[in-house]
Amino acid sequence: MNRGEILYSGKAKSVFLTEDPDKLLLEFRNDTSAFDGEKVEQLARKGMVNNRFNAFIMGHLERQGVSTHFDALCGDNESLVKRLDMIPVECVVRNMATGSLCRRLGIEDGVDLDPPVFEFFLKNDQLHDPMINEYHIDSFGWATAEEVGEMKRQTFEVNKILKALFLDSGMLLIDFKLEFGRCDGKLMLGDEFTPDGCRIWDKETRKKLDKDRFRQGLGSVVEAYEEVAHRLGLDLSSPAIGESD
Ligand code: TMP
Repeated sequence: MNRGEILYSGKAKSVFLTEDPDKLLLEFRNDTSAFDGEKVEQLARKGMVNNRFNAFIMGHLERQGVSTHFDALCGDNESLVKRLDMIPVECVVRNMATGSLCRRLGIEDGVDLDPPVFEFFLKNDQLHDPMINEYHIDSFGWATAEEVGEMKRQTFEVNKILKALFLDSGMLLIDFKLEFGRCDGKLMLGDEFTPDGCRIWDKETRKKLDKDRFRQGLGSVVEAYEEVAHRLGLDLSSPAIGESD
């Protein structure tokens, strides 16, 4: 599938039109950002690793019955996806307290959250992605009550599936962020699932294996992403194209 005009350029991905009006091409770039784009660096191999990682996770979710926009890997840094009408909210689930939850509520880092906590944030960097609730989503018309219910249900389902996947390889899924969109009237998982948008710790040592390594200046960021991929059994050295067709 050939790249058409650029539709949108985000902090870590660019989105291109294709000859098929229902499909878009995602390019995963090496740009790595934190603090709503305040800190940005280029990390070698990150785009390729995240593209492959995302394909692997989306494929796993599809096989477990979750509808996603993912179609196929198209190259080292590119994937073909269904075009969605995106809902401008971020769905976060937390299995353990860390990050903004600890800052906001004074909770100790690393405390187990049982049941897991669900939070909505507005996708808006200028406003620093403020936390919102279902009343804001309803009142401002960002999504219907039915879609809100579906986003929550699907996010918890993804949590159940991925918590088990990471745990099987000795890792803890601490928290993550998902974005959803609409396709032919149906809610579908969009955007990406990569270590850029989740937190993963080694189960025994609690070593951070995600973008917190970049946020906190811990180093070996892409090496940690590659370690997670290898532990999940993902071979990053094999050719990308056609793999997920
Ligand atoms: P937080 O602790 O900063 O609120 O983040 C919770 C989780 O959601 C963490 O895994 C990072 C992810 N996240 C993003 O990837 N992008 C965002 O804009 C936000 C608010 C969270």
